[in-house]
Parts: sequence; C-alpha cells; structure tokens
Amino acid sequence: MSGSQDNLLAEDRDQVRILTMNRSEMMNALNFDMLRALKTQIESLRFNKDIRVVIITGAGQKAFSAGADLKERATLTDIQVREFIYTIRNLLTDIESLNKPVISAVNGVALGGGTEIALASDLRIVSMNATMGLTETRLAIIPGGGGTQRLPRLIGRGKAKELIFTGRRVGAEEALDIGLANKICEPEELMGEAIKLAGAICETGPIAIEQAKYAIDAGMETDLHTGLAIESNAYWITIPTEDRLEGLAAFREKRKPVYKGK
Ligand code: COA
Repeated sequence: MSGSQDNLLAEDRDQVRILTMNRSEMMNALNFDMLRALKTQIESLRFNKDIRVVIITGAGQKAFSAGADLKERATLTDIQVREFIYTIRNLLTDIESLNKPVISAVNGVALGGGTEIALASDLRIVSMNATMGLTETRLAIIPGGGGTQRLPRLIGRGKAKELIFTGRRVGAEEALDIGLANKICEPEELMGEAIKLAGAICETGPIAIEQAKYAIDAGMETDLHTGLAIESNAYWITIPTEDRLEGLAAFREKRKPVYKGK
C-alpha cells in the first residue's frame, strides 16, 4: 500500500497506482472528503516519476460511483453546493490534465459524477455489469463536473444530448458502441484488463506519453493548423531526451528499451 485514507484506497503495482473509491455501502458516492482525497492523490502524482499510469476504480462489486452523495447534498446550503461543484469540476480538470494516463476501470454503476470521472480519464474499461449515465437532469440539475462538455466531445453532440436530456443509463455494450468505453469485459477480468493496458503503456517512453497526451488534448480543442503546431512543439521536446537515444540503441541491439523519463 502506498497510503490510504478510509474513503480512498491507494495501492501501487509496479509503476501503476490504483485508486479505489471506498464507500461501497453508499455505492462509492462522492462527498467532499472523497473529492479532497482524490485531489491530494492526483496532485501528488504529477511529480512522482515512479508512477506511470493511474487506474481509478470503485470498491465492491456493484458500483464505480453513484455520483454526488445525495444524502450529503440534502444537508448543504446553496453556497456549499456551489463549492462542491467547483471542487469536482477542478478535480476532474486536474485528472484530465495530469501528465500521465488515467484509466477508469468502471466496475459497476457509474452515474452522474461517476461517469464524469470516467469522462475525465484518458481511457475507460467497462465491466459487463456496469451502467453509465449522466442522470442529473432527472434531479432537475445538470452535469457539473464537465459532463456537458466532455460527453459530446467523446461521443458526439447528438448522442450526448439524447443521453443528457433523458438521463438514460447505458449498459456496457452500448457504452462500447457509442465510444464511451474503450473496451468491455467480464467483471472478474476488469482489473486484469486495466493492469494489462497500463502495463503496455509502461513499456513506452514517459516523456513521449506526456507529450502525446498534451498534443491530443490541447490540439483537439483548436483548429488543425494550430493543432499541428502543438504537435510539432510536443515532438521537439522528445528529441533531446536520453530516452529517444535509448529507444534507438535498444532497436539496434535487439533488446527491450529501459526508459528513465530523461
Ligand atoms: N448518494 C448517496 N447515497 C447513495 C447514492 C448517492 N448518489 N446512490 C446510492 N446510495 C445509497 C443508497 O441510498 C443506499 O443506501 P441505504 O441502504 O442507506 O438507503 C445504498 O447506497 C445502496 O443503494 P440502493 O439504491 O439500495 O441500491 P440499488 O442497487 O437499488 O440502486 C442506484 C443503485 C445507484 C441505481 C440508486 O441508488 C440510485 O439511483 N442512486 C442515485 C444515483 C444518482 O442519481 N446519481 C447522480 C447524482 S447527481
């Protein structure tokens, strides 16, 4: 264990940190404490060179996260609700802009903020027993953790409007069909698949991954011409690295490269 708070467990497997939302009796619903624990973890990972990939999942068999803690919500003043939304929006932006890949291993119900965590992640592996959805309009509110922005960017405007306007939940197969899931698998295979994917990423150059993530994310928010300039600058950063020379040496010597993030 690399440390944990009660509501968020943190475990390292080689270069992969697994963060497990741990309020299974409440479907891993997100309260202020959970958001703060996630923020602390994400902030600590930015400059941690030993960790290459982050996996976020939920404790138990039933839920990834059922979204905002509606029991806590009922006790909050209007200002406190604003603070919650501000906190989750910034947290999910921090997850999205973390300089290493984040995989959501969606192990069950992911509603509202649960789906928004998955959307802020780079990749989503979804268990066959999962359901996902931005159900907020059914509570007479709207997605506030970036869902109105990230869902249409991922699956297209029309489908996103359909799902947000109705609050309909989708199962794993539909999530895969519409591009919400990268991959689906049986529940018992979920963590294995997520770790396998993380392991494949760990074989690559850390600086390359950081720059590729930045180029894709920054470039997709602009026109092609500007995006190509972003890609060019991101490429230039990889050229003077020791890792680039190591990649060429390993190819010449027919061995696996050993990258150091330098
Ligand atoms: N906030 C707080 N508690 C929640 C919760 C949430 N978002 N979602 C589930 N729980 C709690 C339930 O209240 C219940 O606790 P209780 O036994 O003390 O009443 C426990 O988790 C189990 O949930 P339950 O509803 O009994 O399980 P289920 O399998 O029948 O249904 C859900 C699971 C997630 C489909 C259902 O609880 C639900 O719709 N939750 C609300 C999800 C939502 O609207 N999220 C968006 C918020 S913006």
